[in-house]
Amino acid sequence: MTFQQDQDIQKAVQILKSGGVVGLPTETVYGLAANAFDEKAIKKIFETKKRPFFDPLIVHISHLVQMKSVVKEFTDLPQFLAEKFWPGPLTMVLPKSLKISSTITSGLDSVGVRFPKHTMAQKIISSLGAPVAAPSANLFGKTSPTTAEHVRKEFGETVFVADGGSCTVGLESTVVGFDENYQIVKIYRPGAITQEQIQKVLENFNRKVYVTQEESKVAPGHLKHHYMPNIPLVILEGVDFDAHKICEALKILPSEGAKLDLHTDATHAARELYANLRKCAELNKGFIYVLKTQDQSGELWTAIWDRLSKAATLKLGEIK
Ligand code: TXA
Ligand code: MG
Repeated sequence: MTFQQDQDIQKAVQILKSGGVVGLPTETVYGLAANAFDEKAIKKIFETKKRPFFDPLIVHISHLVQMKSVVKEFTDLPQFLAEKFWPGPLTMVLPKSLKISSTITSGLDSVGVRFPKHTMAQKIISSLGAPVAAPSANLFGKTSPTTAEHVRKEFGETVFVADGGSCTVGLESTVVGFDENYQIVKIYRPGAITQEQIQKVLENFNRKVYVTQEESKVAPGHLKHHYMPNIPLVILEGVDFDAHKICEALKILPSEGAKLDLHTDATHAARELYANLRKCAELNKGFIYVLKTQDQSGELWTAIWDRLSKAATLKLGEIK
C-alpha cells in the first residue's frame, strides 16, 4: 500500500462516516459506495447516479462476520460458494436481514452481497466498521468505470475517488441467486466466475446442486440497455464493415466509425473492455463498431458479449 493509497483510504472512510458517497476501487469495476446502514447516504447513491429506485444495490463486506447483519440466513450452499470464491467477483442474492433497507433492495426481500478482493476496498469497509452498498460508479445505463479517472470524469469534483489503480477483472461480478431449497444456483449476470467454475467446485459439495443461466425476473437491474457509451455502438457478425450502411441504419449523418478492438485472450479483453470503449467514444466519430467472431468462444466471452449486446444500439449479421 502506498502512502497516497493510505491517505485515500482515510479520506474515503471519513466521508463514508459522515454520510457521504465515495468512489471505491474493486477488482471488477469501481463502485459508488455509501454506508449500507445509513439510509440518507444510500439515497445519495441513487441521486448521484441518476439511478431509478427500482434497481437494487449490491452490499459489500470485508469479513464473513458481517454476513450476520446483512442476510437473514447463510445456509451451507452459499457458505460453500463463499469459501471457494470470496473474496472475489461473485455476488450472491440471499434473503435480506431486517437491517438492510428496502431502498437498497428496491423492495425485494433479497439482497445481493459480495466480498471484494481489492485490498483498498477491504480496508475501507473494515475501517468504516460497516458494509457498504455500491453499484458501479457510472451514470445510470452508462459504461462502467475501471479507473479512478473514469469515475472523476463521470461525476467531476462532487465525488471523492479512492485511487486503487486499474481494475484487474474489468467486468462486473457474476450475480447468482438460489431457489428456495438451495438446490439450484441461477446465474443472473455472467461474469469472471463462470458457470463451469461453479459447477466444478460443486462436484465436491455434499449434495447434488444444479447450475443454470437465466435472466432474473426479480432483478430489475438486468435491463436490456445498459453499459452504453456516449455514441452508438454497432456489433457486426459475419458481415463486412460498411460505414454508409451503418449510418443509414442508425439514422445519423454520414460519418466514420471508431473500431473497438478486442484482445484475443478473453481475460485480457475483459480487463481493457470498458477503458477501450470509452477511448473509442472520445474519438469524435459517429459511432463505434466491434466485430463478433467465431473464435471468441468460452464463458468469459459470453460475459463480454452480454455487456456489449446491452451496450449496443444496432446489431448487423448473424447475431441473435
Ligand atoms: O462487480 C460488481 O458487481 C460491481 C462492483 C462495484 O462491486 N457492482 C455492480 O453493481 O456491478 P450494479 O449495481 O451496477 O449491478 C448490480 C446488479 C444489478 O444488475 C442488480 O439488478 C443485481 O446486481 N442485484 C442487486 N441486488 C439484487 C437482488 N436482490 N436480486 C437480484 N438482483 C440483484
Ligand atoms: Mg452497473
